[in-house]
Amino acid sequence: VHVQPKSSENRASEKAARAGPGAILSQFVAYLAPDLDEVDREIREALASQVDLTAEVGEYLRESSGKRLRPILTLLAARLGGRRPEGAVQAAAMVELLHVASLLHDDVIDRASLRRGRPTVNARWGNDVAILMADYLLSRAFGLALKSLRPPLVGILCTTAAAMSEGEMFQIEKRHQLLSEDDYLFVIRCKTAELFSACARLGASLAGLDEEALEALGRYGLEFGCAFQITDDVLDLTADPKRLGKEIGTDIACGKQTLPFIRALQKANPTDREFLLAALNDGRPPAEVVRCVNKYGGIEYALEKARGFAQSARARLERLPENSTTQLLADLTRLVMERTY
Ligand code: IPE
Ligand code: IPE
Ligand code: MG
Ligand code: MG
Repeated sequence: VHVQPKSSENRASEKAARAGPGAILSQFVAYLAPDLDEVDREIREALASQVDLTAEVGEYLRESSGKRLRPILTLLAARLGGRRPEGAVQAAAMVELLHVASLLHDDVIDRASLRRGRPTVNARWGNDVAILMADYLLSRAFGLALKSLRPPLVGILCTTAAAMSEGEMFQIEKRHQLLSEDDYLFVIRCKTAELFSACARLGASLAGLDEEALEALGRYGLEFGCAFQITDDVLDLTADPKRLGKEIGTDIACGKQTLPFIRALQKANPTDREFLLAALNDGRPPAEVVRCVNKYGGIEYALEKARGFAQSARARLERLPENSTTQLLADLTRLVMERTY
């Protein structure tokens, strides 16, 4: 990857920011293009199978790649040492495999029919295929880890995968109880933010950064991840589904208590409270749910929290040397607030 001089890169990123979230994302893709191509090759190899159905579903998953934020974060952190260290591409492929496996399981749990603008694997082939494909991806990710990473780094992947399933399980455990804001933060930390933190720590470890930098990057990943899941939960209420590539209005209808909902429920008068609980238990028209959540400032409240996490994440970077890669990590925290998909 050609590293541009800092000043021109800053101008490019400022221009991209003015042009909207798609343009911010494409600056990372452009910066990391050769690395991301190698990541795709690793993923293709990991998805190969002697069983035609596994290979067919693998090909389907490869055809629509998503935003690739986790490989991007891993590769950026890995480049903080100035060059791309050995193992960075494999680590980036692993985190994406782990992520896609979690999406396959999540879509079964949420009975989702659309992902990345196309029918989910569960909708197209059934839950059995989706579950087994996720298991296959996880196994391949750990196989790759064993081959290319030192044991402590494989350990990061193990604890992260465990936390992700605990997050989704806790959400199910609490399905019939009202969630506090702390419960919600625990869920999003486990199911989403731990993986972003792992990406940052894996990359930074490969780059050979010191303990203090590793700690700062781990926290950057966690806070970035919390902001990311909160904005995902807001987008479930506000996004244009075509652009988002997923159905909207499904979280509350599926019994998921997201932050905008939790806030609105705390503030609602008895009639609206009854309406919100009915929406959670057996669904209500999405537009009416959004109106009620908005009436109590639920969306604005959630966005403010996300902004706080994004700002803390950005502040963690102050401990790192100022260079073009650190600047891109700062830009990621802006992307999380401006994204529309
Ligand atoms: C979706 O993640 C799951 C969440 C943690 C909210 P992304 O929005 O990064 O999904 P893709 O990879 O771009 O499809
Ligand atoms: C959990 O959150 C996603 C994972 C961490 C796997 P959501 O259920 O909100 O994710 P989407 O909206 O389906 O991508
Ligand atoms: Mg889901
Ligand atoms: Mg969601």
